[in-house]
Amino acid sequence: MAHSAASRTTTPTTLAQPSGPLAGTIRVPGDKSISHRALMLGALAIGKTEITGLLQGEDVLATAAALNALGATVARLDDGRWTVDGIGVGALAEPEDVLDLGNSGTAARLLLGMLATHPITAFVTGDASLRRRPMGRVVEPLNRFGARFVAREGGRLPLAVSGAANPMPISYRLPVPSAQVKSAVLLAGLNTPGETTVIEPQPTRDHTERMLRHFGATVIIEAEESRRRITVEGFPELAAAPITVPGDPSSAAFPLVAALIVPGSEVTAEGVGINPLRAGLLECLREMGADITLLNPREEGGEPVADIRARAGTLTGADIPAERAPRMIDEYPILAVAAACARGRTVMRGLSELRVKESDRLSGIAEGLAGCGVNVAIEGDDLIVDGAGNLPAGDALIATRLDHRIGMAFLVLGLAANQPVRIDDATPIATSFPGFIELMRGLGALIREEG
Ligand code: S3P
Repeated sequence: MAHSAASRTTTPTTLAQPSGPLAGTIRVPGDKSISHRALMLGALAIGKTEITGLLQGEDVLATAAALNALGATVARLDDGRWTVDGIGVGALAEPEDVLDLGNSGTAARLLLGMLATHPITAFVTGDASLRRRPMGRVVEPLNRFGARFVAREGGRLPLAVSGAANPMPISYRLPVPSAQVKSAVLLAGLNTPGETTVIEPQPTRDHTERMLRHFGATVIIEAEESRRRITVEGFPELAAAPITVPGDPSSAAFPLVAALIVPGSEVTAEGVGINPLRAGLLECLREMGADITLLNPREEGGEPVADIRARAGTLTGADIPAERAPRMIDEYPILAVAAACARGRTVMRGLSELRVKESDRLSGIAEGLAGCGVNVAIEGDDLIVDGAGNLPAGDALIATRLDHRIGMAFLVLGLAANQPVRIDDATPIATSFPGFIELMRGLGALIREEG
């Protein structure tokens, strides 16, 4: 067995082995990005917000716990729906203890935005992965509102934030294409007089803008070619509004790509979000020749959704432009797996942001693929995968590095490889896709935990 990406751990390994055709119709858990925002805006609204389809993954549960500590009341009903009794913009209470946001960058950065313009002090931390990730990218604009931060070197967690008592509105041009930074600034703008503007040179997921409008805020979006100027008016009266969370396209990506690469498969994922700013993976897979059909497109709760059907077939390599990265930033691990099973070279350009995700995904993908016998290289910020057009060897132990998407991507690869693939730790998968292994097994995937 190749051990290039192995780690020493006592957690049981999880093994995926070459499987027969996958078949079935599935529903993946709710969208993680939308779930965080539904809870946060529900907390800032007046009244009771009812949420259907909330992701009950650890990341979102961390947001729920933090909002409870800040004075809102987040609760789960017996029928699986969630409610948030909001306290209104400007009414967050100082939390008595440290806010621990676990593995979730979205929870940390968006909550820091909310805290930055409330006159309270809060202490924020997270797990070993989150404590390594850069927070300077939100600290910098939030300082300009008048918030004060004390952080570890490099702006890392744990950090303390003292929100501005008299915040000043800002106009901020994003130095990196990040929906988290954009959202942190817009959320800070809610409890700030006047207009807060974010300028994004490349469009990023717009769930915050859509949901702000859904709750009654005034959001002005001016678009000029790829550049967008998003302005929110301060002190809106947000009113509780029901929300239906679509299935997460970033989660659906794993069973759908599995269906594309395991010969003879056909899988349909129902009710998946197809927001154009999240749909880059579908564009890539179609360019690679994938048999993917969108059925029954519709709108639910202000977001476009569809049922997505994937059928196995031959994939060919493609050249993926850097400009597409913000529309599929979380999908590179699974795209790289598809590329490893394709015929020819796939070049994925402009992936510097992958280095600051739950792990350094650029090196995690490359090391993992190399361990599975795939020809792979990193050149600058580009990832190059040479697919041989036949099954990758497999026979590797992959270090998950506290990264749910690395774990799921390599389990999917194991289903289509010549030899099994093991991951050292499947527990991070619960941050975004609780029930992933059971769902895949329901489709016929041979995945099991080892002793
Ligand atoms: C997210 C935005 C993305 C993405 C993350 C969720 C969000 O991060 O990687 O999983 O909910 O806004 P960046 O905006 O920092 O790229």
